[in-house]
Amino acid sequence: MVSLTVVAVAVAAAVLVAVGAAAAAAGKFDDVVGPSWANDHVVYEGDLLKLRLDSSSGGGFASKNKFLYGKASADLKLVPGDSAGVVTAFYLSSAGDKHNEFDFEFLGNVTGEPYLVQTNLYIDGVGNREQRIDLWFDPTADFHTYAVLWNPSQVVFLVDDTPIRVYENKNATATATATTKGHHRHANGTNATAPSVPPFPSPQPMAVYSSIWNADDWATQGGRVKTDWSHAPFVATFRDVRVEGCAWAGNATDSDASEVARCTGSSWGKEGRYWWKEKDMEELTVHQSHQLVWARAHHLVYDYCVDTDRFPVQPPECAGR
Ligand SMILES: *[C@@H]1O[C@H](CO)[C@@H](O)[C@H](O)[C@H]1NC(C)=O
Ligand SMILES: *[C@@H]1O[C@H](CO)[C@@H](O)[C@H](O)[C@H]1NC(C)=O
Ligand SMILES: *[C@@H]1O[C@H](CO)[C@@H](O)[C@H](O)[C@H]1NC(C)=O
Ligand SMILES: *[C@@H]1O[C@H](CO)[C@@H](O)[C@H](O)[C@H]1NC(C)=O
Ligand SMILES: *[C@@H]1O[C@H](CO)[C@@H](O)[C@H](O)[C@H]1NC(C)=O
Repeated sequence: MVSLTVVAVAVAAAVLVAVGAAAAAAGKFDDVVGPSWANDHVVYEGDLLKLRLDSSSGGGFASKNKFLYGKASADLKLVPGDSAGVVTAFYLSSAGDKHNEFDFEFLGNVTGEPYLVQTNLYIDGVGNREQRIDLWFDPTADFHTYAVLWNPSQVVFLVDDTPIRVYENKNATATATATTKGHHRHANGTNATAPSVPPFPSPQPMAVYSSIWNADDWATQGGRVKTDWSHAPFVATFRDVRVEGCAWAGNATDSDASEVARCTGSSWGKEGRYWWKEKDMEELTVHQSHQLVWARAHHLVYDYCVDTDRFPVQPPECAGR
């Protein structure tokens, strides 16, 4: 729907907060992320990082490193009260016109009505894989953890450790090569190299981003409800942002083959154990599978896989839904 990568406009500006508190909070986030868009709308307050939207601008931050495979998490409390028209996003993205991107987009609503959480994946520059859920809690009342796990076998979107979406690598050749898996991936049933194999994000390093912006042309109740600027500023609050992954060498290009090999092949590096691509991370546990079924049964409100108006021919990754 909306490409999030277009928001990366660097604006230098004064930070309008108490210097002592800002230094403490910035220190905690500083290792991982820094302001990347409208720096004066990225506010450090105590132990918290706040993204502000007002009629002049939204704001955003980006991770300092890029990663190939790993897990990125945010402890986030969404804009309370009237947040109609306001979108807060937490996402991973690589660069270039064949980029990959894994999105959480939190679609605000009028006071008392539920947020929707939209997830999407771009693979080789192509998105249009939206799913939407509502939540089993009020995301404006307290902090909750939103995370993306990414390895050669799967991309998993998690809310408080409950998987809400899984995108699997159905390419038995690729997963067998990368992870020595393949035992249960139709080893001899289907044709692993046939063109109908669903696409899976190629190994491009990704940065982690968050931003808040005005999207009242589409976000809330299909765009019918507009942002009420008399309720600005709209503030999304982060308590923590964590990234555990194989950190891309600062001097390497995004297509550096030795970095791909290192992050794909190694099981240990300067970041510690590459737990995110160990055997037990190649698919959901039985418990997680049950959680996913529960989340989809009770909270899924939109799935592109079954939207035959948009996709008369079902996308290949949706087979069996
Ligand atoms: C499957 O994986 C192999 C090995 O990585 C790769 O050469 C091939 O292009 C992949 N096929 C598809 C359809 O992605
Ligand atoms: C795999 O192929 C072998 C040999 O052709 C066959 O005996 C076996 O039943 C097949 N397994 C599956 C799961 O299709
Ligand atoms: C796999 O694809 C090849 C080449 O298109 C074809 O000859 C072969 O029959 C296919 N095998 C299966 C199991 O579909
Ligand atoms: C907002 O609330 C309305 C009414 O409950 C609901 O239909 C809609 O899905 C909610 N979320 C968004 C983002 O519009
Ligand atoms: C990056 O720096 C490391 C350590 O100095 C070096 O080993 C590596 O070859 C460099 N890589 C590139 C692509 O320049």
